[in-house]
Amino acid sequence: MDRYKKVRGMHDIMPGETEKWQFAETVLADSAKLHGYREIRPPVIEERMLFERSIGASSDIISKEIYSFQDRKGRHLALRPEGTASVVRAFIESAPPIPGKITRLYYYGPMFRYDRPQKGRYRQFYQFGVELLGGKHPFFDGEAVALLDFMARKLNITGYYFAINTLGCPKCKSAYTEIVRSALSAKEDSLCEDCRTRLKISPLRIFDCKNAECRESAACAPAVTETLCKECLDHFGEFEEYVKKAGIPCKKQSGLVRGLDYYTRTVFELYVNGDENAVAAGGRYDSLVRELGGADTPAVGFALGMERLISIVNFKLEKTPSVYLAAMGKAAALKGISIVKELRNEGIAAETDYEDRGLKAHLKNADRSGAQWCLIVGDRELEKNEFILKNMVTGEQENISEDTYLKRIKELIK
Ligand code: HAM
Repeated sequence: MDRYKKVRGMHDIMPGETEKWQFAETVLADSAKLHGYREIRPPVIEERMLFERSIGASSDIISKEIYSFQDRKGRHLALRPEGTASVVRAFIESAPPIPGKITRLYYYGPMFRYDRPQKGRYRQFYQFGVELLGGKHPFFDGEAVALLDFMARKLNITGYYFAINTLGCPKCKSAYTEIVRSALSAKEDSLCEDCRTRLKISPLRIFDCKNAECRESAACAPAVTETLCKECLDHFGEFEEYVKKAGIPCKKQSGLVRGLDYYTRTVFELYVNGDENAVAAGGRYDSLVRELGGADTPAVGFALGMERLISIVNFKLEKTPSVYLAAMGKAAALKGISIVKELRNEGIAAETDYEDRGLKAHLKNADRSGAQWCLIVGDRELEKNEFILKNMVTGEQENISEDTYLKRIKELIK
């Protein structure tokens, strides 16, 4: 018989792990809410063109990694490779923006990229992201980084820093692109084949090449901050003031350019324990809302990669109180129906097994289930209107009356 395996680049999140995910999900959502964000749930499928227009047709995400297909009516659709484009599309579509109003949205869900699977890199992965729409001031960029810093602290993550940089406004960014192009044209021979193409189409991506030689060549180009207009320099300066004041560990990194086209000005990435993969990344994208058909709306946001985050979160699973019911015989099993109902109504997890088993087998099951207590009900106990309560950790047991068993279990759990 054929046995099916998970598709390459996909992964299961199994019990034992899901608890860690749920813990992180709650911390992230609570943190976002504390900072004024409200949840948005855009769909997983969008028009392919939405991503092409926002992330950039020449980006690796669009040119190599997007999962796209035609539906039965021939529409060109794609599984979302990220969340920002969808959030902006929904923002534009939902209501006309109110001038001066700040909209803070957070989202969580699976993203899809046909990436080369390796540690921390999957083809389906989860992102937790936030987008702040309508804020132009550089302190909003600072607040985005401060939120990530808050989340990291709430998750007890240590040994992290933010790589920060600016790409300038669209005018500065395109001027800088030309500066990099001409600086690297002289080094074309040392570039890999992909980067020779990048040199023609989008030279800034050479900073991001996986090939160290290409990155070294790119490092010879002037730093972006040497080429910016005064407004862009001031914007970055004020952002730096914010993160300094907030005590957030940051390192200026002039080669940080990000692989998505929509960024303008501030960009940042979160690194932990010297790992080469960023755990989270984001930045400002002041032109995207207009480019996708909305009103002029400056914006800033970030997304956390959940798989990478989960691999560094320190988490101790706290056991919820639970009882295993060992009911032996038909009469006990019938009594058990109301016992487990009462326990669950009181918020106590209860589990049982309906097969006809002896006490030894039941105790083995109780042990496997991880229950702290085993409530034993047999014909003999029923006759005396009594149950036996066994502490699965210490092995101690006591007789308790049918009338007071619930009270006693609640007392012990407290
Ligand atoms: P991104 O850098 O493409 O940015 O992805 C953000 C994070 O998602 C990464 O730092 C990483 O943790 C995770 N990630 C990306 N690709 C993979 C993968 N193949 N496997 C596992 N994790 C992955 C964005 O997506 C932007 N939308 C972020 C943003 C929001 N910018 C502004 N607002």
